[in-house]
Amino acid sequence: MNTIHLHRLISETFLEQASWLEQTSSTNTVAMELARRAAPLPALIGADQQLQGRGRKHHQWWAGSGALTFSILLRPAELGIRPQQWPLLSMATGLAICRALEAWLPGAQHHVKWPNDVYTNSRKICGILLESVPDCPGLLIAGIGVNVNNSLAIAPAALQLTATSMVDVAGNPFQRHAVLVSLLKQFAEELHALSRDERTVIQGCRERCSLTGRLLTVQDVKSQLTGMCLGIDDDGALRLMTESGPRRLFTGEIQRID
Ligand code: BTN
Repeated sequence: MNTIHLHRLISETFLEQASWLEQTSSTNTVAMELARRAAPLPALIGADQQLQGRGRKHHQWWAGSGALTFSILLRPAELGIRPQQWPLLSMATGLAICRALEAWLPGAQHHVKWPNDVYTNSRKICGILLESVPDCPGLLIAGIGVNVNNSLAIAPAALQLTATSMVDVAGNPFQRHAVLVSLLKQFAEELHALSRDERTVIQGCRERCSLTGRLLTVQDVKSQLTGMCLGIDDDGALRLMTESGPRRLFTGEIQRID
């Protein structure tokens, strides 16, 4: 990403600040450091290469050369988002990426895997890691990794079976800065929608939910549940029908078993 691209990011999106590194540990970690300095927000930190890219549940995040890996540091209250809406921020972020990908890859099938993974043609194309900042209440980091020009042909073998990238789907590469601008515009739009009426965001996710009607196992810290997914509830919880009755989930590691 060159200086012109960074200027474009600021002039065309809701960002107040943007920086891009050739290499770093994790853009979420850099964003945490930035949070402790009084930076103008929202701020974006991106990197061509992460040496310790982090996923949820302490997983590593693989991203070959050509991926988009970035973090946005923001103060949701400044965008009209109330504290009780924070749990819906992951769904709003996943929905934004899903919508942007629908425009770039119109011939493909895009889904949100609750709460916020994005799948294209049944393979993971984007991962999202939302983190709050210890000692900086009110600040949020949205870490986003999208497989753009990094073909999965050179990925670790296990990922080749479960993940995909934009170049693998379309057969041609994309201008990463143009993809990034569209992701950011859609992200700002979904945050705005969330602040106005959260039902719009929940409905958008319902329409794109890859789990509804599927048999799932959900691994929680203490237990494992199996059941049929009944969809997303009005407050964003995932509804599951288990042998012992209906359950509502707010977190958990989800596997489809059908
Ligand atoms: C997941 O699917 O488990 C979430 C993956 C999130 C990866 C992104 S890449 C940019 C940001 N920096 C990180 O270290 N992680 C997130």
